Amino acid sequence: MKGIVLAGGHGTRLHPITLGTSKQLLPVYDKPMIYYPISVLMLAGITDILIISAPQYVESFRRLLGDGSALGVRFGYVAQDEPRGLADAFVLGAGHIGDDAVALVLGDNVFHGPGFGRMVRAAVRGLDGCVLFGYPVSDPERYGVVEVDAEGNPVGLTEKPAEPRSNIAVTGLYFYDNEVVDIAARLTPSRRGELEITDVNRHYLDRGRCRLVPLGRGFAWLDTGTHDALINASQYVQTLEHRQGVRIACLEEIAWRMGFIDREACYRLGHELSHSSYGRYIMAVAA
Ligand code: G1P
Repeated sequence: MKGIVLAGGHGTRLHPITLGTSKQLLPVYDKPMIYYPISVLMLAGITDILIISAPQYVESFRRLLGDGSALGVRFGYVAQDEPRGLADAFVLGAGHIGDDAVALVLGDNVFHGPGFGRMVRAAVRGLDGCVLFGYPVSDPERYGVVEVDAEGNPVGLTEKPAEPRSNIAVTGLYFYDNEVVDIAARLTPSRRGELEITDVNRHYLDRGRCRLVPLGRGFAWLDTGTHDALINASQYVQTLEHRQGVRIACLEEIAWRMGFIDREACYRLGHELSHSSYGRYIMAVAA
């Protein structure tokens, strides 16, 4: 399975912070925002990852992440000249996806919860059509909303409904079979001028090929789109990391635990960053 991180957009709700840099390069506490979605793909066992960003930031992402070989993965880069909606990722990423299945994660989504690695690996193994993750929120009108039947199966999907029929938001992590490339290529822009991921998901739902995995209470799916959301996410990560002494979304540690690199290589990556507590954490776990 291939992976795509969509890190485009103008980040206008974070102006003036994002006048000079990409939103997904901003820190969420101790690491760049994009580490969090990348960690999700790595936890799913995905090692071939395409990063889509605005043209002026492709080099910044490349400087940050390189070709991935240090982590035992492959990072590729592609520019999106204008944000045309989430489903544009499958148009821009068609060459990267080839004949494979694909996971898309939004570059500003933070996921954290017990057993999440197992959950996403199970989604990859059992993939037939598409897998979405549902999360109860207090403001569903801001998201794609999924309606479920008594058994929890998805029965309806609406993008940013004025009157939501449930409080379950569709999170920014999506698993698809290869058909998604054709579905995305045939989409037409919505009223807000975007290729909507919700239209892609509805295509699968209409054919009974859309599975919903609930992320229950106790799970954290965090937003980073506004000034307050950004600092709240940082504080969440800081609180957990201080309390438990573990690091969330530490790519070097995940690469080692997933078997993409060995312990010595992990330790060396920590050593290169040993002036920071992040680097010293890696050295400690891989010692
Ligand atoms: C997008 C999707 C929406 C989804 C959300 C998750 O919203 O369109 O369905 O719930 O991401 O973050 P947007 O970021 O375009 O407002």
